[in-house]
Amino acid sequence: MGDSGTFWLPEQASTIASQVDGLFYFVTWVSAILFVGVVAAMLYFAYRYRRTHPSERPTPVKESKLLEISWIVVPTILVLLVFNWGFKTFIEMNVAPPDAYEIRAEAKKWSWLFTYPNGTQSDTLYVPEGQPVKMTMSSQDVIHSFFIPAFRVKHDVLPNRYSSVWFEATKTGTFDLFCTEYCGTGHSDMITQTKVVSQSEFDEWVESGGGAKDLPLPELGKRLYSQQGCQACHSIDGSSMVGPTWQNLYGKTGHEMEDGATVTADENYLREAILEPGAQIVAGYQNVMPASYSNLSERQLTALIAYMKELSTNEAPSGD
Ligand code: CUA
Repeated sequence: MGDSGTFWLPEQASTIASQVDGLFYFVTWVSAILFVGVVAAMLYFAYRYRRTHPSERPTPVKESKLLEISWIVVPTILVLLVFNWGFKTFIEMNVAPPDAYEIRAEAKKWSWLFTYPNGTQSDTLYVPEGQPVKMTMSSQDVIHSFFIPAFRVKHDVLPNRYSSVWFEATKTGTFDLFCTEYCGTGHSDMITQTKVVSQSEFDEWVESGGGAKDLPLPELGKRLYSQQGCQACHSIDGSSMVGPTWQNLYGKTGHEMEDGATVTADENYLREAILEPGAQIVAGYQNVMPASYSNLSERQLTALIAYMKELSTNEAPSGD
């Protein structure tokens, strides 16, 4: 990726980045110069006007109109300059161009899901280079925050309402995308990437459903496992997380429920567990799974179950 930014800031990869950085450097350097000036003057005066004889008394200082006016006028100009510069940039960052391409972002504990106009979904954000993109964002649970450092865009993602940011990527490449609002134990895992590709490559990618259209079911299931955020709560290696592991779950007999009942984890059980997570709670776990998975399509459900089958060495349960 060549350009990896400066000591202070990451690389610039959007149209707004140079304006944000310009303002940042201006404020930083003005502060540095003023700091050095004030400290130097303080040290000089402390030395220059030190008491040299025990009987010495300070002589009254006469005011200087020029000095007083300058230390009112100069800071005022600096403050107004920063305000004007910042306000203009703020407005530009917040008003998306009318022809912006719209992508939906959904945040939940602890993953991102991006939906493109034709229904294609991904957990990595794909955007075309040189095209304004408007993100319309919402959260399924708590407050998250959408942050792409290389684009210099950051905006809270809230439950029960939409918020938005826009940007125009200026170079192809892969850039980090963080959640930057503490949202619970998995907050630091709520990381993904932004892939900036050429317009034609982007169009092709969206058209192919993010490459999902022709995937075999277990592979699609594996992709959905991370894309839909299942991996935040269900392990595939047998370890117990917020929810039961998927390893050897499919086909498990004597699967114990909170109310003492035991079930066989066959297709129908798994289907209900995804669509209606509150219907039966597995013993030892909390009823915390979001109900939002009822939006999954039939193909997506089948794919998830096919993936669970792959993760299991149990024999297929005999149907009832
Ligand atoms: Cu989501 Cu932090």
